[in-house]
Amino acid sequence: MTEQGTPLTSVFYRRDGLDPGAELRDAQREEPVRRVQDFWLYTTGEYWLVTRHADVRRVLADSETFAMHDPARSRILPPELLNADAPEHTRLRHVLAPEFTVKRVRGLEPMITAAVDGLLDGMESTGSPADLMSAFALPLPAMVMCDLLGVPVEDREDFQRRARISLDLSLPMEQRLAANQQSHDYMAVLVEGKRREPDERLIGRLIREHDDAVSDDELVGVADILLLAGHETVSNMIGLATLALLTRPEQAARLRAAAPDDPVIGTAVEELLRHLAVSSTALARTARRDTDIAGVAVKAGDQVVCQLPVANRDPALGVGMDDLDIGREPVSHLTFGHGAHRCLGASLAQAELRIALPALLRRFPLLALTGPPEDLPYRHNHEVYGLYSLPVTW
Ligand code: HEM
Repeated sequence: MTEQGTPLTSVFYRRDGLDPGAELRDAQREEPVRRVQDFWLYTTGEYWLVTRHADVRRVLADSETFAMHDPARSRILPPELLNADAPEHTRLRHVLAPEFTVKRVRGLEPMITAAVDGLLDGMESTGSPADLMSAFALPLPAMVMCDLLGVPVEDREDFQRRARISLDLSLPMEQRLAANQQSHDYMAVLVEGKRREPDERLIGRLIREHDDAVSDDELVGVADILLLAGHETVSNMIGLATLALLTRPEQAARLRAAAPDDPVIGTAVEELLRHLAVSSTALARTARRDTDIAGVAVKAGDQVVCQLPVANRDPALGVGMDDLDIGREPVSHLTFGHGAHRCLGASLAQAELRIALPALLRRFPLLALTGPPEDLPYRHNHEVYGLYSLPVTW
């Protein structure tokens, strides 16, 4: 603990600007499955830190051996999806997966484009300088999730504040749990209203089409987790991606000049996802039986934590993995996880980034940071890495 009573950033979360911390690189090189005693997720304890791409893939793919459910995590996460294993997880995933197919997401693109254009108009009329996080990166994914789920957009600031508190590792656990409870209560009221009058949006559709397969409690938990997972991650990807591009003007210029069907838009998004890997946590599993990871013995009940930012830069994936190269042939990155729990919203997140980033660069050809990148306020003690603010001029 620090003198202020906040937990020290554990090795697991350490980053140096946009790069994984030095200890993580050392671990990957010297001891890729390392026993660590540290603060992580919600408590201080021992765990196996897994840092190589191939080992992370294996742990996440093998849900027979490595379970998602963990009683400690139940304190802070709803029991659905991200804290569940087969068969409950499989049943819910089957109900939700059709809502997030590439085809479904294509249907959402006009709505995403309209939201992007509206926010850029707002920035233009307010004028330079601005905080890109509050003017663009934070509202966009929240507006998209409101539209998708059928959540009133007027509630955006409230649910974003609660999400920020709930994921902030530097805050006392009671405060984080209270924010979680408020989110749950908010969603319970919303779901009750939809049950009386189901609308055409996702929550309303689930009620109409899957009433027998999904209980009320599950519906509240699923809606709660979708809202949380669907905005914090994308917001911080937009913030960090903009920062990464503004500090590499030649790559920003290439994306700015790209026609809508230029393949560089897709490769840029994949490369930015690989390079920045905003998801700091959630990739924790519990061994169900004695096993080994890359020859290191792991006992039943041991906690295993996969570190994505460093796994995505594993030299085994190719040369120059520390560099950002938006034209790179996509590398099989782990930013959306892997296996049974691979991100349900991956196609949606990719679409938001493909629309938002080129539009932002095109609208403001002179977009620039107001100061040195090393002075920016990074969210070190956060389950989703990113920036508290990103001051820009144009
Ligand atoms: C850049 C943006 C995003 C990133 C980096 C990201 C990352 C992740 C990761 C790493 C996981 C797997 C966790 C694990 O295996 O322990 C995950 C799962 C999940 N994500 Fe995302 N996510 C993003 C956007 C979204 C969006 C937009 C949505 C919602 C529409 C979403 C909904 C979910 C859900 C529901 C799960 C749980 C899936 C399951 O357990 O079966 N995510 N995400």
